[in-house]
Amino acid sequence: MNLGIQDRVAFVTGAAGGIGARTAAMLAEEGASVAIGDINSDAAEAEAERLRDTGCKAMAVQVDVASAASVDQALTTVVREIGVVDILVNNAGFTRDKRIGRMEESDWDAVVDVVLKGAFLCTKSVLPGMIEKNWGRIVNISSRAYLGNPGQANYSSAKAGLLGLTRSTALENGRYNITVNAVAPGIIDTAAVRNLPHYEKVKANAEASLPLPRLGRLEDVAAAIVFLASEQAGYITGDVLHVSGGRYG
Ligand SMILES: NC(=O)c1ccc[n+]([C@@H]2O[C@H](COP(=O)([O-])OP(=O)(O)OC[C@H]3O[C@@H](n4cnc5c(N)ncnc54)[C@H](O)[C@@H]3O)[C@@H](O)[C@H]2O)c1
Repeated sequence: MNLGIQDRVAFVTGAAGGIGARTAAMLAEEGASVAIGDINSDAAEAEAERLRDTGCKAMAVQVDVASAASVDQALTTVVREIGVVDILVNNAGFTRDKRIGRMEESDWDAVVDVVLKGAFLCTKSVLPGMIEKNWGRIVNISSRAYLGNPGQANYSSAKAGLLGLTRSTALENGRYNITVNAVAPGIIDTAAVRNLPHYEKVKANAEASLPLPRLGRLEDVAAAIVFLASEQAGYITGDVLHVSGGRYG
């Protein structure tokens, strides 16, 4: 299947590693020009260089998605260097887990500002260009944690909030041929997950209890994101695609 995104311009946040990096690589392999946005500029540059070495079109741009000024500056650079953004993947995010009683205001703000406000700021910044082109794809990376998890009130709330942002943005912009969807991964075998002290238990639990009995892989999530970002997904909007091995609840 031709995904129809050759020469589209994609901006992927948090793309210096993990799911974002795999997604950026897959978009680039499909012929898109990709901007790797990350707060970690050295890692973003290394990733962009790696893609360019394989013949792909890629640039790095430093961005703190929680800052409107930083987002606007980064997107101005992207538009100047590779063109108006057609595909936005709001992927930057992290956890700062604590039970609510021990969760500080700063723990709440750090996670919600990057995951939820960051997605809002990037969306707001790219929408005028997409409306002008009458084409756009926005994919928000939520998490199965939107259903709630002990110790993750900040993360879970932000990931649930992303679904509201997804639906509202979809409703406002369908008339401009812009689709907005979310991907909700389960537990993915990333470096961060491998570093968990109880990684072996998490892995064994996935193998014992999931309908698809294994942890998710980076490419499982990236493939779902790239499909939703493609021409072929043009009649899907406001939806949530779970990439969780069949896990619900
Ligand atoms: N790994 C999983 O099991 C899993 C499951 C569900 C959802 N997710 C979500 O997928 C996304 C990617 O996760 P990952 O496991 O690949 O994480 P990761 O830590 O490998 O990558 C996240 C990237 O975001 C960047 N980042 C952090 N703060 C930023 C900021 N303010 N501005 C710009 N970039 C920033 C980091 O530098 C990092 O490169 C996250 O939103 C995460 O919540 C992951």
